[in-house]
Amino acid sequence: MLLEILGLFPSDFFDRSKARGDRQGRKVGLGLTNRSKSVPKPQNMASILQIKPITGVPSHLRASAQPQDPAFYQNPYPFYARQNMSHPAFFWEEYGHWCFADFKSVSALLRDKRFGRDILHVASREEIGLPAPKPHVADFDLTEKYSLLNLEAKAHTRLRTLVNRAFVSRQVEQLRPRIKQLAHELIDGFEENDSVDLIKEFAAPIPAIVIAEMIGLPAEMAPQLLNWSNRMVTMYMYNVTRETELDANQAAADFMAYLREVIAERRKAPREDLLTHMLTTDRDGDVLNDEEVMSTAILLLNAGHEATVHTTGNGVKSILESGLDPRTLFATPEQAEATVEECLRFDAPLHLFTRYTLEDTELAGIALRKGDVVGLMLGAANRDPNRFANADSFDPFRTDGANVSFGAGIHFCIGAPLARIELQESMKVLFERLPKLRIAEPPRYGNVYHFHGLERLMASWK
Ligand code: HEM
Repeated sequence: MLLEILGLFPSDFFDRSKARGDRQGRKVGLGLTNRSKSVPKPQNMASILQIKPITGVPSHLRASAQPQDPAFYQNPYPFYARQNMSHPAFFWEEYGHWCFADFKSVSALLRDKRFGRDILHVASREEIGLPAPKPHVADFDLTEKYSLLNLEAKAHTRLRTLVNRAFVSRQVEQLRPRIKQLAHELIDGFEENDSVDLIKEFAAPIPAIVIAEMIGLPAEMAPQLLNWSNRMVTMYMYNVTRETELDANQAAADFMAYLREVIAERRKAPREDLLTHMLTTDRDGDVLNDEEVMSTAILLLNAGHEATVHTTGNGVKSILESGLDPRTLFATPEQAEATVEECLRFDAPLHLFTRYTLEDTELAGIALRKGDVVGLMLGAANRDPNRFANADSFDPFRTDGANVSFGAGIHFCIGAPLARIELQESMKVLFERLPKLRIAEPPRYGNVYHFHGLERLMASWK
């Protein structure tokens, strides 16, 4: 049943900060940040909007790349290389804020407490120019209120600590056999064909099924979960109408009503699943309330899927294009780990995350004001020639492979151990079962720059 819902979540669901910028900052943001009239604003804003315009940027620190230009999003790496070689800290015209492309800065900024995914814990809406919340999207806002990705400082630590245990390596290690089994079943399903879209038939099902099973929601509900999720994410799109907002809010209300019922059932009859874990986990008498559990379940269902799908697609492409023998790349558990790390570094699925500047400060000679947005370019940092030898070569045997694809600091991906296991097991099975696997048509990346993943990956093996 879950296989029917593949292709699941729209690609720009993941960057929650964008939602805040779009929904709350759009009127102010668009009006004020459109300072460069010759440069069209990107439709899929990867970032929270810069509210107060940044002026007086010297021309040598300005760079332009249109995120929706196919030439750019099919291959953003030449732009990254140029910036890393000239000005790794630069003002990206189309986004209207400062960005950092080098490994050292990105890695440091992710950990820097002067920057945060949220700002409302240190500033009022008035101070940074955010409009008041809209009452007709109150249910939607409630699902976001306790999202780990929207919390900072103490509130974040508390929630994360209570959820974390389910995601530590020794817990998720137990899922290896299930992931292997799923990979085999999926290949059994298409092996007789001449070719297949590996994204749809192989990469997508595995993380979707694994996270749904982990949370403990029945597979029959999957299409409905997808429906709610899809309607909710329309809220993050450009130029949202009131009608769309009302529909997204209704979806959020229905999603929460369903989760409330399941939560009530679990309270009466606990099970061995993540939902029960979240409801019962206790730290010095502190437990999660229902809203927190609902927010977290919704976030995990969405975040737990798409980036892994894209890493599988990008990784299989990188391996097949490298000319290396895929079987040697998964020959031992250690080499499988190294290969997956190189896939994550070489062609990361998430290229741009943003942070608010929480206090006036200076960075790389740039004066940043409280409320300014900075872009952290994960995909560029992973190809920084000052950090990696032959940064633009795919080399699963490299020894300098640490990357920032899962972020760093307090928001470091909670699902990283799970994603790594999913990638190691699924790719190993794929290349073992189909040793003659090859790309059947030139793969193309989807038009969501910051979410770097293939639209499809047609492959054959006979
Ligand atoms: C290859 C796959 C994945 C990649 C590349 C990835 C990447 C990331 C990144 C970069 C962040 C940090 C965002 C920021 O700092 O602004 C993040 C956070 C997060 N990820 Fe992942 N992720 C992946 C898979 C998963 C999976 C499988 C799950 C859940 C099962 C998951 C759940 C989360 C959650 C809940 C957060 C927020 C953590 C927090 O704010 O404390 N991710 N992920």
